[in-house]
Order: sequence, then structure tokens, then C-alpha cells
Amino acid sequence: MRRYARNDEWAAMLDLAVVVPTFNERGNVAAVVARLAAALDRLDWEVLFVDDDSPDGTAQAARDLARHDPRVRVIQRIGRRGLSSACIEGMCATAAPVVAVMDGDLQHDETLLPKMLATLRDDPTLDLAIGSRFVAGGGTGEWDRDRVAKSALATRIAARVVRTDLSDPMSGFFAIRTAVLRDLVPQLGGIGFKILLDIIGAAPRPLRFVELPYVFRTRAVGESKLDHVVAMEYLIALYDRRLGRVVPVRFAMFSMIGALGAGVHMSVLSLLYVVAGLTFLTGQIVATFAAMTFNFFLNNALTYRDRRLRGARALLDGWVAFCLVCAVGAVANVGVAAFLHDVRQGAWAASALLGVLVGAVWNYALSSRFTWGR
Ligand code: GDD
Ligand code: MN
Repeated sequence: MRRYARNDEWAAMLDLAVVVPTFNERGNVAAVVARLAAALDRLDWEVLFVDDDSPDGTAQAARDLARHDPRVRVIQRIGRRGLSSACIEGMCATAAPVVAVMDGDLQHDETLLPKMLATLRDDPTLDLAIGSRFVAGGGTGEWDRDRVAKSALATRIAARVVRTDLSDPMSGFFAIRTAVLRDLVPQLGGIGFKILLDIIGAAPRPLRFVELPYVFRTRAVGESKLDHVVAMEYLIALYDRRLGRVVPVRFAMFSMIGALGAGVHMSVLSLLYVVAGLTFLTGQIVATFAAMTFNFFLNNALTYRDRRLRGARALLDGWVAFCLVCAVGAVANVGVAAFLHDVRQGAWAASALLGVLVGAVWNYALSSRFTWGR
């Protein structure tokens, strides 16, 4: 370690911070630190593990290392999940002038880090140095054809939505000037896996980057968390970037699920009223509860995935709160529609639709506060 820090940013003690998001990577943290130590031996660096309270005890494993090594830091987030948001928090928690993000499963090539840092130092106009699998010299290692095809598709969609000429916008391996990142944080969506795309899309001016080749390694220990929900979150994040300011993501999802709920309502009603011959009122009551229950669970699993209610007690409380909110929403819906219909006699369809919209906004606003409240 250097003894004296001077005023010059680059001469200060800390050169580089490496943010490593983790979820169930206990078997990898020691190797990550050892490899960083080998790759960065000429630099002053720190590593920040940002762990989402992994059940396998990743955070504790990292703390065990930190006790003997001041270069290791640990942020353990409780009750929250998400790769992007974990990266953002980690990047905001360092004083280093440059911060890198790297996976915690040894799939990214840590020996590229000194070159990323040197590239940013040599050219002060650059904002980012990005590890790419798709420039000359890079590669995807032992990926099967299916994953190559999916990755190529995601890359094409990203290129259209964010309008960038990045060869590897999906890369989760890059280094950025911390000051640049910090300015962008209020604009970041923080949803899903695609933190780099988020950063590039959020910047008010085009960020200047270079791409450096690396070969994606095969995962040795543990398993990938990239599943269907992650693929869905990817599309949500892109939607958020393009249309999120017009119609917020959560509201769009909430409304879509609401529309499905209307389908459930009609199915149950026709089953009970038409097929089984119960009274219309009984059918309506049962159908209403079926639809509300359906909506509650779907919203809990998707719309509010990041603050999902778990456990019988929390679910029951949430369900009751949701039903109460929806009951008031239904009154608002009918009231508004009736009022509008009074004012403009002919416009029954428009009145009904506006009623539905008011009800939906009401349900959304109040349930986000009282059911999945923050
Ligand atoms: N804190 C936190 N919270 N970390 C997470 C979460 C989460 O919800 N989900 C995953 N991680 C961590 C993992 O523990 C790992 O260190 C890293 O994020 C990458 O997750 P993997 O599950 O290994 O993803 P992958 O290998 O399938 O995908 C990687 O390659 C993609 C390229 O196609 C990632 O780097 C992606 O960002 C990248 O797009
Ligand atoms: Mn991985």
C-alpha cells in the first residue's frame, strides 16, 4: 500500500473498487478474492460483495474473509432482491474513482480489470470500459446454441430500444467512472439483470466507451439465476426505458393483470350462473372474490416481485387489504361512470371505460401503499 495520499485523484489510496453482486455464491467468494488479489497486485483496490441475504450464507462467508482482509467489504441487503439494484448500491458505496462490476461466479475474466482501469486513466474523455464477448478476441466459451441464440435476440432488441452500437449490451462486466455513475443514479430503473443497458440508456448524453474482449468462462460452482422471470424482467426494463415515463411499469403490469382478472370474473360467473344455475348475486359475489384473489397473487408474484409478501400471515393480511382497496375502487368505478353517464347521456361506453380507469388507478395507488406498502 502507498503511504501518502496526495490531492490528485489518481494518486489517492484507492484505485479501483470491484462490486460483486451475489446470490447463493458461498462456494465462490474465497476464490473471487484470491483471483482479484492476484490480478490487481499492483493496485490499491477493494471488493464489495452485495449479497441479497442468500440462504446459503454467502454474506457470512464474505465477512469471514473481510475480518482478515480490509480490502473485502460486504453489504448484506435484507428483504430485497435484484441484480441491478444490488450493483447500483454497491457502486454508490465506494470512494474509489473507478468502479467495476463483476459476477461472483468466476465467469468474468478478472485479469481484464487492470486493462479496464488503465484504459480509463489514459483517456479522461472515456466514461466506461466494457468487457465484451463479441469483439475480436472475445468469446462465449461453452455456451450451447440455444443460449447463443437467446443472447443474440436480446442483443438485437436492446440495440433497437436503447439505440446503442455496443457489441455486447448484455455484458455484466464493465468499469465506469464513479462520478459519472453517481450522477446517473436518480435516472436508473434498477430492474432485472441489465445494469449496463440501464446506465447507457439513462445517460442524457451518449457515454463514451471502449470494449475490451474477454472470454466468458463456464460456471464451476453453483447455478445461474437467469431464468424465465429474469427474461421477463429484461423486457420490463426495456419497456421502462422507452415508455416508463408515460405509463409506469408497475401500473402497466397491474392493469394487464387486472384485465386477466376480468376474464377470471366472467369465467367464474358464467360457470356458476349459466352452467350451475346459482343466482346472479351469488355468482357475482363468488366471481368477484375469485378475481380479486387471482389478482392479488399474480400482483404479488410479478408486479411486486421485489417486495413480495411471504408466509401465511403476511399473505392473509395483504389479501384482506387488497380486497378492501378493490371494494372502494369498485364503488369509485361505478360512481364515476354513473356521473359521467348523467352528464353525457349517449356516451355510455366512454363513461364505463373512464370508470374502469379511475377504479384501476385507485386500486393501484392504494394497494401499492397498503398491500405492498413502503
Ligand atoms: N445481489 C444479487 N441479487 N445478486 C444476484 C442476483 C440477485 O437477485 N441474481 C444474480 N445475482 C448474482 C449471481 O450470484 C452472480 O454473481 C451474478 O449475479 C450473475 O448471475 P448468474 O446467475 O451467474 O447470471 P448468468 O451467468 O446467467 O448471466 C451473466 O451473464 C449474462 C450474459 O449473458 C450475467 O453477467 C448477466 O448480467 C449477463 O447478461
Ligand atoms: Mn453466471
